[in-house]
Amino acid sequence: IRRVPLILIGSCSSAVLSAASVTTVPQRKLHHAVIPKGKGGRSSSSGIAATVFGATGFLGRYVVNRLGRIGSQIVLPHRCDQYDIMYLRPMGDLGQIIFMEWDARNKESIKRALEHSNVVINLVGREWETSNYRYEDVFVTIPQQIAKAARAAGITKFVHMSHLNADIRSPSKYLRNKAVGEAAVRDEFPDAIIMKPSEIFGREDRFFNYYANMRWFGNAVPLISLGKKTVKQPVHVVDVAKAIINAVRDPDANGKTYALVGPNRYLLHDLVEYIYAVAHRPFVPYPLPRPLYHLAAQFFAMNPFEPWTTADKVDRFHTTDLKYPGLPGLEDLGITPSTVEQKAIEILRRHRRFRYLEADLDETKPAKTVNY
Ligand SMILES: NC(=O)c1ccc[n+]([C@@H]2O[C@H](COP(=O)([O-])OP(=O)(O)OC[C@H]3O[C@@H](n4cnc5c(N)ncnc54)[C@H](OP(=O)(O)O)[C@@H]3O)[C@@H](O)[C@H]2O)c1
Repeated sequence: IRRVPLILIGSCSSAVLSAASVTTVPQRKLHHAVIPKGKGGRSSSSGIAATVFGATGFLGRYVVNRLGRIGSQIVLPHRCDQYDIMYLRPMGDLGQIIFMEWDARNKESIKRALEHSNVVINLVGREWETSNYRYEDVFVTIPQQIAKAARAAGITKFVHMSHLNADIRSPSKYLRNKAVGEAAVRDEFPDAIIMKPSEIFGREDRFFNYYANMRWFGNAVPLISLGKKTVKQPVHVVDVAKAIINAVRDPDANGKTYALVGPNRYLLHDLVEYIYAVAHRPFVPYPLPRPLYHLAAQFFAMNPFEPWTTADKVDRFHTTDLKYPGLPGLEDLGITPSTVEQKAIEILRRHRRFRYLEADLDETKPAKTVNY
């Protein structure tokens, strides 16, 4: 089967006059390649032509995989060497994944990346600030520019990743900027679908792996108040990726904000204890006051490459996950969230000593849950 390359032809056949200002939104004609057909596998057509910004990160590979396996066309703007992201290439059918260089500061390159798509997914994020990009750039300006370009191009579905604990009063600058970014995106693209996941765990995460890697410091795990004042409700990366795809396919999802959390809440202390139990490593927690933890983190933050931790990360990890009973969640998107106990072994087996590599998971007591 010969695939027809990209898709939606943006034509300026009619103009829409907005109440506030006169802006032209191109009316898009559907190319037959985005009309859903086939049995739903990777060689069929899902009707989705998606541009995924930030696809080269942790969550990106799961989102691209889920898009590719249902037969979508995917444009992947990237700023790294193309050969570094070749692992994404086999996730879609031949010719369905298109790599494209972009520069987040160049409006023209954002426009070019999404001009042939009907769906835009923004996964751009960074756990630490760099001299080139502060949190304000990554979480506010870039999403705002993408949302603006998406609206101008007549995109119908725009998914933006925020954070469950995004809050303008948070001690973490990351979370404060996420809150501002959420509002900025809503302003630019009122129909945007905003996803608010808690900390995400998965094979390549910077959460479970972060704590498990503390074994390099003699298994001693510093926790503020021993982690007994922080409640976490982590969510599995596959559930988040499924939520994004289901929201894209759900005509009623536009304009909604989803809170994506796992099924159980744990004290941070109990969660880290479980991580060490699965990894068959001794767990030696010790209470570290916040100012001292910050001081140590500032030392690591001087790493010009990927800092192992930062003061901001310390604050973010010691923030109790908020509850949003009023917001729809994974279940509303038809997803049964996976528990930590079901998936932790996939992440933590590599942290075991050789002699425990194949040890049964049944021997590990599940982590205690809390309901506050
Ligand atoms: N992981 C979590 O636990 C978690 C929890 C809640 C919310 N989120 C949010 O979910 C989204 C995805 O998370 P993730 O864990 O997949 O993040 P990630 O692994 O850090 O990946 C971030 C992506 O953003 C791109 N990016 C960062 N700064 C950029 C810039 N200045 N210009 C262009 N591209 C840039 C990166 O490209 P390069 O590869 O070129 O650097 C990468 O593709 C983020 O918005 C994050 O804040 C994550």
